[in-house]
Amino acid sequence: MCIKIFIKQVSILSVMLFFVGTAPVSSAADKSDSTGEMTHHNMKHSINDGRVSLGLSPAMKQHQLSNMRSHLEAVQTIISLMAEEEFDDASKIAYSKLGLTDEMKQMCNMFDNENFKNLGLEFHKSGDALGETLKTKDMNKSLRALHTTMGYCVQCHAAFRQ
Ligand code: HEC
Repeated sequence: MCIKIFIKQVSILSVMLFFVGTAPVSSAADKSDSTGEMTHHNMKHSINDGRVSLGLSPAMKQHQLSNMRSHLEAVQTIISLMAEEEFDDASKIAYSKLGLTDEMKQMCNMFDNENFKNLGLEFHKSGDALGETLKTKDMNKSLRALHTTMGYCVQCHAAFRQ
């Protein structure tokens, strides 16, 4: 009887140890599966991380990255202006820096990849919609519109690379 209980306890303990031992490994594996994190293999060759390459020339690459840094700065400026409740100024930044200006339209139309082009155009339209919403001076609506615009940043970055 005593030995039986002992054996039972040992087997429960080893089952527990088994799960404790394997849990971190399997959760790390799940994480890299679901987020598409770079594997060691991909890191080494820095290609084939699942995103579509746009095959840009070196000049286009520079131009795109500088554009992107300006988008990021615009988002930061908009957030800070919203915090100060300076909605009209925030709206102007949204229109001029994120909206579908002639310059942005031209830029987007330079890309051969239709999906990228369309996503870019939709993104800039959402910048105009953000500009419009900011004019209402409604904080919650403006935050929702900013969230929508930033959804395009996230969506495009997940799908495309230079
Ligand atoms: C239509 C596609 C698209 C949209 C929309 C987009 N980006 Fe990008 N962005 C790219 C691509 C492509 C790259 C290059 C990524 C790579 O090659 O790894 C990039 C790179 C960047 C970089 C890196 C710049 C550098 O100097 O290395 C920043 C920052 C950035 N984007 C910010 C943003 C922000 C903020 C938004 C939204 C407000 C945004 N982007 C929207 C396509 C997009």
